[in-house]
Amino acid sequence: MSHRLIDIIAGARPNFMKVAPIIRAIDALARTGSNLSWRLIHTGQHYDKRMSDDFFEQLGIPQPHVNLGAGSGSAAEQTSAIMIGYEGLLLSAPSDMCLVVGDVTSTMACAIVAQKLQIAVCHIEGGIRSGDWTMPEEINRLVTDSITNHFFTTSTFANANLRAAGVSDDRIHFVGNTMIDTLMANMDRLREPAFWAASGLSAGRFFVVTLHRPANVDSPENLAGLLQAIAQGASGLPVVFPVHPRTAKAMRAIGELPAGFIIVDPQPYLEFNWLVKNAFAVITDSGGVTEETTVMGIPCMTLRASTERPETVTVGTNELIGTDPRALAPALDRLAAGNWKKGSIPELWDGKAAERIAAILDRIVGTPSARLITGR
Ligand code: UD1
Repeated sequence: MSHRLIDIIAGARPNFMKVAPIIRAIDALARTGSNLSWRLIHTGQHYDKRMSDDFFEQLGIPQPHVNLGAGSGSAAEQTSAIMIGYEGLLLSAPSDMCLVVGDVTSTMACAIVAQKLQIAVCHIEGGIRSGDWTMPEEINRLVTDSITNHFFTTSTFANANLRAAGVSDDRIHFVGNTMIDTLMANMDRLREPAFWAASGLSAGRFFVVTLHRPANVDSPENLAGLLQAIAQGASGLPVVFPVHPRTAKAMRAIGELPAGFIIVDPQPYLEFNWLVKNAFAVITDSGGVTEETTVMGIPCMTLRASTERPETVTVGTNELIGTDPRALAPALDRLAAGNWKKGSIPELWDGKAAERIAAILDRIVGTPSARLITGR
């Protein structure tokens, strides 16, 4: 029986927790007789140990078959390096399907290359939209989804967006959230970071902050304003701030920080989520973090004007605060007064999304329906 090969693309930090359970689920199917196989391709978009290798080790992700070594650069430099690398690979060693996850530059770049070589594209976390075209991720989502054959969705909002764009129901697979598969699989393995013991922090008595969106961190003045507002509203609680490499540049320009901040390196997966689970609340501009706080029931404030994950607000513990530092004070007052919503868990965020994905892939990879052209 010949193998049907799926390329699994992983490029940047938020991709790694999404591909881990998919690889495991495909392997589990293969053990029961399926002829699905996978080839893991790291584009090299993220390359620091703390942004990449630590996640592979902690989540038990196998070594990639190929690393395209794309590295950093402008959006176009990064996109083109990934495209040239992946095209070369597919021309010399084609696959039957290209599976992309999330909304990073690697997601879009590999989808374009595969579709131009008439290799079916499936998009895990397809269909989500912020409506904000100033965010590079929104452009990545729009481009990727316009050439995706099969969509694996995390929310009813995503399903509705795709239907509104004319995608037929046979291409929309509502499966749940692979990021949450990973969180649930690792909940008992979460562990305190190395700095914890000497930090003087106590569980439930600190904030976690993450900021890395260009709109918030590329200007030192903007970032300084946000950090000032967080320090003022934190009711004297310390603020743990793992600093993303992008944010580190503006931090150097800011100089002295307000009192209360504990600046740490980007944390590995198990340590970061241990911090979140033990935090009083989280303040972030990440999308993935709002999903994790929702599942852990931790109050979350998002410093953005929009979200592509509205279920974290309508169902979960997240609230959109915007990017004006003045909007933080009233929200932090409400939190301190104990008036934050409790939230619940969105539909199908049950730890089993990857199993559903593998079962559907087993049905469609290599069949003519994998490459339904536009499906309209
Ligand atoms: C990317 C994703 C974003 C995701 C984020 C998580 C895009 C458009 N954005 O943003 O959706 O939330 O990853 O981290 O794909 N850098 C390093 N070491 C690394 C990686 C990056 O030092 O391993 C520095 C480089 O200076 C680089 C900058 O960070 O220029 C930005 O990296 P890049 O991959 O372009 O985007 P992120 O801001 O990380």
